[in-house]
This record gives sequence, C-alpha cells and structure tokens, in this order.
Amino acid sequence: MPTPDLFSPSSPSSDAARAAALREQLHHHAHRYYTLDAPEIPDAEYDRLFRELQAIEAAHPELLMPDSPTQRVGGRVLDAFASVRHAVPMLSIRTETDTEASGAQAFDARVRRELGLAEADPPVAYVAELKFDGLAMSLRYENGVLVQAATRGDGEVGEDVTQNVRTIGQIPLRLPAGAPPLLEVRGEVYMRRDDFEAMNARQRDKGEKAFVNPRNAAAGAVRQLDPAIAAQRPLSFFAYGLGDITPPEQGGPAFETHYQMLQTLKSWGFPVAEQVAQALGAAELIAYHQRIGATRDSLPFDIDGVVYKVDSLALQRQLGFVTREPRWAVAHKYPAQEELTTVLGIDVQVGRTGKLTPVAKLAPVFVGGVTVTNATLHNEDEARRKDVRVGDTVIVRRAGDVIPEVVAVLPDRRPPGALVFTMPRTCPVCGSAAVREEDEADYRCTGGLFCSAQRKQAILHYAQRRAVEVEGLGDKLVDQLVDAGVVKTLPDLYRLGLVALASLDRMAEKSGQNIVEALEKSKQTTLPRFLFGLGIRHVGEATAKALARHFGKLDAIMDAGVEQLLEVNDVGPIVAQSIRTFFDQAHNREVVAQLRACGVTWEEGEPAVQAPKPLAGKTFVLTGTLPSLSRDQAKDLLEAAGAKVAGSVSKKTDYVVAGAEAGSKLDKANELGVKVLDEHGLLALLQGEPA
Ligand code: IVH
Repeated sequence: MPTPDLFSPSSPSSDAARAAALREQLHHHAHRYYTLDAPEIPDAEYDRLFRELQAIEAAHPELLMPDSPTQRVGGRVLDAFASVRHAVPMLSIRTETDTEASGAQAFDARVRRELGLAEADPPVAYVAELKFDGLAMSLRYENGVLVQAATRGDGEVGEDVTQNVRTIGQIPLRLPAGAPPLLEVRGEVYMRRDDFEAMNARQRDKGEKAFVNPRNAAAGAVRQLDPAIAAQRPLSFFAYGLGDITPPEQGGPAFETHYQMLQTLKSWGFPVAEQVAQALGAAELIAYHQRIGATRDSLPFDIDGVVYKVDSLALQRQLGFVTREPRWAVAHKYPAQEELTTVLGIDVQVGRTGKLTPVAKLAPVFVGGVTVTNATLHNEDEARRKDVRVGDTVIVRRAGDVIPEVVAVLPDRRPPGALVFTMPRTCPVCGSAAVREEDEADYRCTGGLFCSAQRKQAILHYAQRRAVEVEGLGDKLVDQLVDAGVVKTLPDLYRLGLVALASLDRMAEKSGQNIVEALEKSKQTTLPRFLFGLGIRHVGEATAKALARHFGKLDAIMDAGVEQLLEVNDVGPIVAQSIRTFFDQAHNREVVAQLRACGVTWEEGEPAVQAPKPLAGKTFVLTGTLPSLSRDQAKDLLEAAGAKVAGSVSKKTDYVVAGAEAGSKLDKANELGVKVLDEHGLLALLQGEPA
C-alpha cells in the first residue's frame, strides 16, 4: 500500500492530510477484510487507525467527509451474491477497550444518566454475553421455514448467503410449532478452534492456502461461491438477538426482557451460549468481564470481548440509538491477541541436544497482556514457509500461556533488499558444523560437549529439580562458570571450591557456600534421576524410570545391547539406539565414571524378573468384538507375552483372533489359511497351551 506523503507542500494542514491518509488506509484494509477476507493487519491496528480518524473528525468537523470509513457500519457487498435489504438494519455496537472496571462503569453511568436515574435508584438489570469473533448473520424464517440468510454488509444491505448457511448443521431449517410466522434471528457464524486447526491441516495437505485465524476461515466459508466447498467448512452458530418479528398485535410473542427472548430462541432450537448471564449493575458486569477473561483461552472458540445489554426491552426502546449504535449495548474488549511489530533480527539459539532454533527478535510489543520481544520460528522449514526477514513488519500472536508466534508477514511493508533467512551451516556458538539429518526438521550442532551452549544446557538439565537437583544453580551462574572456563564437564561442578565460586562476579561468599552445600547434597541421588540428568536424547523422566526398574543397575544399562534395551516397556528402536550411541562414546562413559568418583551415588536395585515371553516373534491381528476382553486388553496381554499386534492380515500373520461381527479380516485369514482363534483359544495360548 502506498504511504501517503504527509509533508507534501500541497497539504492544507497536517490534520487534513493525516485524515486523508487514514481514510485511504482504512478503505484499503476494509476492502481486504470485508470483501476479500484477507486482512493484512490485525484488528487492533485497524481499530487504532479508525479511532485516530474518529478523533481528528471530532476535533475538526469540517474534515468529516461523507465517504469516511467512520460513516459506515460494516463492509461492502460482494458482487457475486444477491443483495438483501435488511428489514431492520443490522447495527454495530460501541466498543470500550478500557480496563476491567472503567469499561463497565462508563457504560453503566451513561445508561443511568440517559434514563435519568439518581444515585439512590436501584441498579440497572443487564445481560452479559460473549462477543464472538466471527461474522454477523441474519436468519429469516417465514412460517417456520428458513428462507434467507444474509450477512451484515453495510448494515442496510447485506449479501444473500442462504445456500452456504443452510449447510451449517446447528442452524434450524424449520422451527417448531409455536414460533411466530415471521422471525429474523441475528447471531454470529464462527468456527471452533479445533475445527479450524483440522481444516487448516487439510488445506496444507492439499497444498492449498491455510487461513490466518478462525474468523477469516469462517468469513471465507460463508462467502464461498461454491456451496459444495462451503459445506466442507466446519461452521457453527450462536444466536444473540432479533431483527424483524411478527408484532404482538398480530399474534407474535411479547417478550419483556432480552434474557427471556434468548431463552425462547433456545427453546426453538437456536444455539445460545451457555455463558449468557443476567447481571445487576456495574459491579456484576465487572465480575463477568473478569470471570470470562480468566477462562477466555480455554473456550473452544475465539472471543474478542464481552457484550453488555440492558435487559428490559422497554428500557432499550427508551434509550434508543445514536447514529447507528444502540445506547443500550456496549462491547467491552479484551487486550488484543494479535499485534503488529517489526523484526529486528533473527537469532539462532542452540539447545541441549544441539538443536538450532531460529528466533525472531522483535521490537517490544504489548500483546495478549504481556510485552513480547521474541518469537520462535521453530525450524528452517517453518521460517521459510512464513518467509520472515529482518526488517519485516509481522503479525505476532500470543494467546493465553502459549509461546508467542509470528502469524504472518506484511509483504507490502518489507524494506527493499531484505534478505531471505537461511539457517547457518555452522553452529553460531562454537563454529562446529551444523547438519540436518534426512527426515529431520532440525539442524543440529555437531560440537557436542565441545559447544559451550550445549554444555551450559547440559549442566542446567543435570541440575534441574526433576533430575539430580543442585539448588541455586541457575542459568546466570552456569553462564559465568562455563564462560570463565571453570566448568567444562559435569564432574567439574563437584571440583568447584568455595574460592573459585566466590571469585566469580556478583557472587557473595554466603551464596558460594550455599552452592557448595547444594552440590554436596546432590551427590546422594537415585538411578532414575541420574539417568535422566545425563541428558541422553529421547530419555525423559518416564523412560529413565522404566530403564532403572528393568535393569536395576547403571552398569547393566550401559552395557545393554539394543535388543535388551528393546525389552524395556516404552523403549522403541529410536530410543534404544540413542541410549546405545550415548554409552558407546568414551567421553560419556568417562563423565559417568568421574561423577561416581566425585561421590555421586544412589542405591542400586535388582533387575526386574523377566516375565516369560511365550509368544515372542509371533504376529497377531485382532478383529470383531471378543466376549470379555476389550481390544486394548487383548493387545496388552499379547504384547506382554512378546507378540506383535498388527492392523491387517497378511501372509506373515501367525494368528487372527476373531470375535463377534468379525469382517473382512476374518475372510482374508481364511483365504490365506492363517490360524483363527476365539477368545478362549487366545487365553489358552497365553497360558502356554498349544493352539
Ligand atoms: S449485539 C444492536 N451481541 O459484534 C446490537 N453482537 O458491532 C447488535 N457480536 O459484528 C450486536 N457477539 O456480529 C451482539 N453477543 C453479541 C455479539 C455481537 C459478537 C458482533 C456482531 C457485530 C459486532 C457488533
């Protein structure tokens, strides 16, 4: 997008020029958002530009142009769909972005003032709802039948998307008896997060474009010109209001409150969010905002705030509208989860196992409630797919406690000459070669413990609470110890004297003493903690425990062959090979020997008694329903006896265990002459009886 020159000599004044620039930008982004369903900037940025223009127009009414984006409610009408004039306009609502208390208080104060209430008067009754992040929809029912679904469009005229909306399973096509002859239900079409993820995975598999967020995906689906494609897009719906309806004089319902109306819509089969709540006065609105804010990230769909509405319909009528916003409703937003920022650099970090991770260093940005300065780009492919470059303007997303991520790059704002990111072929810390194994997403530094980054991570891993635990040995201290060359390997930790420790910068004698004591204490450990602490690739806590239980003694593990390792529960070929490789390296054995020599010790146990494996080497296929054993139970029993359980029958199958309603697998077994057992036969075989 062209950036208008704000200082051009022809500008009458900088406010006028800024307003013109904002109008142009907002038109551009509104088109991208509403018509193309392909926004380039996050909502928060659009809102800011919008408010900036509103503020200039408020201060300089002469700058308010009839075509200003602030003068329309929503988007444009797509040419391809028929236009629908809304019988009752689809309004927008005023938005408060203030803090918890002030947003609700400001709204309540306004309502009370408009209604002429005194301080002593009782609190106003409200309904609080979720503000769904989807797209507004009007559903028109005539004589109980869905005849039309329309988008909001510009509020007066929307698009007829009936065909696509009919494919949404949650929307009733026919209403029960008792519903009025004319009914327009207003609500939000949206996409659940799980549906969105699954759909995006399918899009990627097909080599098609993935959507940026659930709302764009929902909007894209609703305005999809091919209803067959729309039908494959998983959409949902929530009702939150009414448009046109048969008036009470003509036999229509006479609702008294918004809440009652929502309950009635529910009884007619419309989905109404379970979080809808009645609330008395500002205090209860504030509590609602807080309660929903705390659970926002665990909802199965996106919301961008909550909505407060005056409950009494009589009071709603009394309050009326200002321009196109009702005075009886307000949206109270939460901090945006997506923001714009720029990429200052791309660092490559080295992990404990040598994994190289590209990390975007960002200009600090407040998003999702915290200031974010880093976002992982995961690996080379991911960085390439997003094509993030130094100098780029990017959309950063941080939802809940999830680590911040770069959602997309704004190509229009890329500075000239920005270079494509490439992973370094050498480790940025130690200079050793970095290699990417076939079928792996990651580059790894081949420096091993020669690499100080890996050494630091290895020490921190060993010293963590779940491993050998050296209290007080954190990353700052480890950085110092490794950088000063005092600690090169794990055993060096135990050779640290108080003198060496106290000589480090910022280390007081007392803290040095504490570390010495913590190291002394760490010497008495357990075999699983020690094993886990060694940081063998693929050996997590659970595997370390299983290995210790199975072998009892460290030497037995160190000397076990792959075959023996495979006998341990949960140890597969990759893990077994990784353990073998680790202990095949002389320097790793040396580290273990030295740690023991330094006094690191644990109580060793006896190897677990080996259960006999009467079915070792045999392959089974299970089919149909067995009378007493579940599929999983049968599988567990077979695997415990050493058998393999496969999914399909082939010449290599030794036995098929068939239960009730066994299908094609049984036919196949008979065809190939594979032995077939029932549950009784299986149990007998497990007891060691010949089949
Ligand atoms: S009420 C007259 N309630 O927010 C009031 N709107 O500008 C009409 N929205 O795009 C809107 N959740 O689709 C209302 N619980 C809710 C809502 C909601 C989401 C959307 C609506 C529109 C925007 C309002």
